[in-house]
Amino acid sequence: FSAFLTDTFQRQHSYLRISLTEKCNLRCLYCMPEEGVPQSPTRDLLTTPEIYLLSSTFVSEGVTKIRLTGGEPTVRRDIIPLMNQLGSLRSQGLRELCITTNGISLHRKLDSMAEAGLTGVNLSLDTLDPFQFQIMTRRKGFEAVMKSMQRILEMNKLGAGIKLKINCVVMRGMNEREIIPFVELGREQDLEVRFIEYMPFDGNKWSQGKMLGYKEMLDMIRAKYPTLRKVQDHKNDTSKTYEIPGFVGRMGFITSMTHNFCGTCNRLRITSDGNLKVCLFGNAEVSLRDILRKSNNGEPIDEEAFEAMKQISMDRKQGLTTSNDPLGGSEHERELLDVIG
Ligand code: GTP
Ligand code: 5AD
Ligand code: SF4
Repeated sequence: FSAFLTDTFQRQHSYLRISLTEKCNLRCLYCMPEEGVPQSPTRDLLTTPEIYLLSSTFVSEGVTKIRLTGGEPTVRRDIIPLMNQLGSLRSQGLRELCITTNGISLHRKLDSMAEAGLTGVNLSLDTLDPFQFQIMTRRKGFEAVMKSMQRILEMNKLGAGIKLKINCVVMRGMNEREIIPFVELGREQDLEVRFIEYMPFDGNKWSQGKMLGYKEMLDMIRAKYPTLRKVQDHKNDTSKTYEIPGFVGRMGFITSMTHNFCGTCNRLRITSDGNLKVCLFGNAEVSLRDILRKSNNGEPIDEEAFEAMKQISMDRKQGLTTSNDPLGGSEHERELLDVIG
């Protein structure tokens, strides 16, 4: 494993999350205001060749899992060509290619994604009631999300092997009554429902009272299913996994608020405008885009420059000096930046 991707706590950063866009076709109450979030100008966003270049560099240094996120990653027009390119990194050591999506338009793209090498879908779905869906997402689209879910399950019956997780953010007074129906999804179906503690973000109107903690959710579930039991988690999992004997699926809890998992976090993040971040909540960012484009006179990397750049970044692995690090990344990030050359 590359020393560059190993930090001073010996955490190996083998998991890269790439945000493809800040745009989204829903407006979930816990995530965005009705008017949406400010968008960066298109020229500031990473292009597909740039994303591929960064990904292949990170994979050659030991990244084995890439997750595409957003906003909503499927609103990016070139998502299929991009996934085809990322899928080709399997020959260089990439083992998992995953996406986190709201599922609105996923069903139309699933077959092509599976062909490209998709191995996992985390599907955001907070309610099983179409009316409640419209309240929580401020949009219509419940049927489309269900169609995406059903399509994945069907494809898996034919051997597609797409790991399906359902992300359910639990808000008191909104959807906590649906915890048990969500658990029931796993009775017959091979999926993992993850109950997520509601987290505060800028302007999402978070309050302690609206958050249900892990323990409270667990007690509700255990009262109904006394045989509920813990499953051993993998070293870097952010989710605490449980099962009920006789159920095909499992459930998990993402406990960002009550039991944080920073000590074992192995994620790197690239924002849609090309900043490298090691923590969701960290704001020390370093622009990989600027580093790439500096070698191309500030222009986005086109196919030709991209091949040349790839050569450069593979050949030259030296650290950044303070002067070419205008955004001033943390020590930790500077260490990781050595990868880019
Ligand atoms: P996998 O482990 O690959 O399945 O992904 P994940 O569960 O980490 O990612 P996903 O995109 O499905 O996000 C699920 C929830 O975890 C969301 O509420 C995210 O905001 C949250 N999350 C993702 N990464 C982090 C992190 O580093 N820290 C915290 N606190 N929450 C995170
Ligand atoms: N708290 C917890 N989870 C959130 N997500 C978005 N906003 C929040 C929040 N405030 C989740 C969505 C999606 C994932 C990418 O992040 O449910 O599944
Ligand atoms: Fe936010 Fe995801 Fe909902 Fe879009 S679908 S508003 S990105 S949580």
